[in-house]
Amino acid sequence: MVKATVCGAAGGIGQPLSLLLKLNPLITELSLYDVVNAVGVAADLSHIATPAQVAGFLPADNGAEKALQGSDIVVIPAGVPRKPGMTRDDLFNVNAGICATLAEAIAKACPKAFILVISNPVNSTVPVFAEVLKKAGVFDPKKLFGVTHLDIVRASTFVATVVGKAEDASKYSIPVIGGHAGATILPLLTQSEPKIVSILSDKSKRDALVNRIQFGGDEVVKAKDGAGSATLSMAQAGAEFAEYVLQAAFGGKSSKTVQAYVHLSADAGGEQIKKEIGADLDYFSVNIKLGAGGIEKILPIGEIDEQEKTLLAAAVKELGPSIDKGSKFQPPPP
Ligand code: NAD
Ligand code: LMR
Repeated sequence: MVKATVCGAAGGIGQPLSLLLKLNPLITELSLYDVVNAVGVAADLSHIATPAQVAGFLPADNGAEKALQGSDIVVIPAGVPRKPGMTRDDLFNVNAGICATLAEAIAKACPKAFILVISNPVNSTVPVFAEVLKKAGVFDPKKLFGVTHLDIVRASTFVATVVGKAEDASKYSIPVIGGHAGATILPLLTQSEPKIVSILSDKSKRDALVNRIQFGGDEVVKAKDGAGSATLSMAQAGAEFAEYVLQAAFGGKSSKTVQAYVHLSADAGGEQIKKEIGADLDYFSVNIKLGAGGIEKILPIGEIDEQEKTLLAAAVKELGPSIDKGSKFQPPPP
């Protein structure tokens, strides 16, 4: 019996993500929460013939806590998306407040749940969640994830395209570490499997590829021209990452190595990361192994080349202030 809740379930990401979770056979109860239209989306999804029983909740009558009650996993794409000309950080003031409110409800209704944060700016909203959970005495760093999986999905797609094997995108695995905004997104092309020697030896091709992975989000924001940011690709990436967590926790399958933006105290391996990045950051997107209790291991970054070391320094520089901003956020009094 696995209960999943989506917060922001009626939104551009929330609806297709909820659909994909409804199709996941591991989920037996799917709870949808939003400030608008959650009941309608739930009614629609509830007609699909899969095991998950669906219910929708609005804020009235303590709806958030009712939706979240007893959840095993909570996926959060709640909040405003970017428009052209905006950075993810421009979303902070609105989205940090939404995240803090949801974190309070999670602390009361399902303190042991796996929490997957999609709301931007991820580099700062994950610290917002952590601080609220700490204050409530229920913070478990092994169970809090900033979802950076769209960057990994993009890296596979864009690398395969440059190699001339676009149809094989899913066969390319490229770790993407750091954070989820511009220069903090650090694709490790030297660790690509299969290897991509022809790209690594061509500086302009390599630079263009790194840039496309770092600014893939902007590509979609520009193309949507004011109508929001990535929703469908994010829904797919979010559902895929949720599946890794669910399989490890409830499906008896320990995960392959995946990346997520996590608190480095989640495992002793976090100290090794601090040495590798040469900075005492509390959060970083790293290689992790998942198990029944969430993060089982934080794995080292491993070998990277000079170009990646330069990108790493830039990522670390930008991440520090974003983490501080999230950690110091004070939710307005209710
Ligand atoms: P959207 O506006 O289409 O949907 C957001 C939903 O959140 C809306 O339905 C809205 O009603 C709901 N919402 C607002 N306040 C809420 C609250 N207090 N409680 C519950 N629900 C609330 O936006 P979207 O395109 O779905 O994007 C959502 C967020 O995800 C944005 O912040 C966006 O930047 C982010 N995002 C992250 C990634 C990533 O890789 N992590 C990728 C794409 C988008
Ligand atoms: C993305 O990478 O697509 C998301 O973070 C949304 C955005 O604002 O770019």
